[in-house]
Amino acid sequence: MNVGIILFSKTGNTEYFGLKLKERLESINKRVTLKKIELTKDSKLESGMFEFEKRPKIKSFDIVIFGSPVHGFSLSIVMVKYIEELCLSGKKVICFVTQHFPYAWMGGNRAIKQMKNLCNEKGATIIESGIINWSRKNREENIEKTVNLFLDAIEKK
Ligand SMILES: Cc1cc2nc3c(=O)[nH]c(=O)nc-3n(C[C@H](O)[C@H](O)[C@H](O)COP(=O)(O)O)c2cc1C
Repeated sequence: MNVGIILFSKTGNTEYFGLKLKERLESINKRVTLKKIELTKDSKLESGMFEFEKRPKIKSFDIVIFGSPVHGFSLSIVMVKYIEELCLSGKKVICFVTQHFPYAWMGGNRAIKQMKNLCNEKGATIIESGIINWSRKNREENIEKTVNLFLDAIEKK
């Protein structure tokens, strides 16, 4: 089974979670590749003007894990545009978002719903999802729990 972790990370939080997940998957002998979505140097995300530098391919993966930050109470526009151009039929997908605020209703719920809808529209079967609230005191514990949740979902497939 080939697992791909595809993420967009502007300031490193989403990547941090992705790396933890990769480490744990490797510790149970899964074949896992982490790829980052990258933008060109002159992209200005704040004004919504950006171009992809790297748009990872997902064809070789049986399970794809997408990770993105929450931006403006929504899914980052980068992840929206990235998923919009994919074909996910036959793929099992896990979605996660990281957000600054401590409660999921402060953007996380909306972003993860958007992400799952987009993936469904592209033919994916969503097997799990998670939200990491970065400013929570028990963040590391939540990261651990979410990683375990994802590992369980992958083991069942
Ligand atoms: C433009 C912008 C908008 C953001 N909007 C939200 C938001 O609506 N809710 C929230 O909880 N965090 C928000 N954040 C914080 C990020 O979601 C959070 O820091 C996330 O973990 C960053 O992930 P990254 O380090 O992988 O880029 C925003 C950050 C930026 C830069």
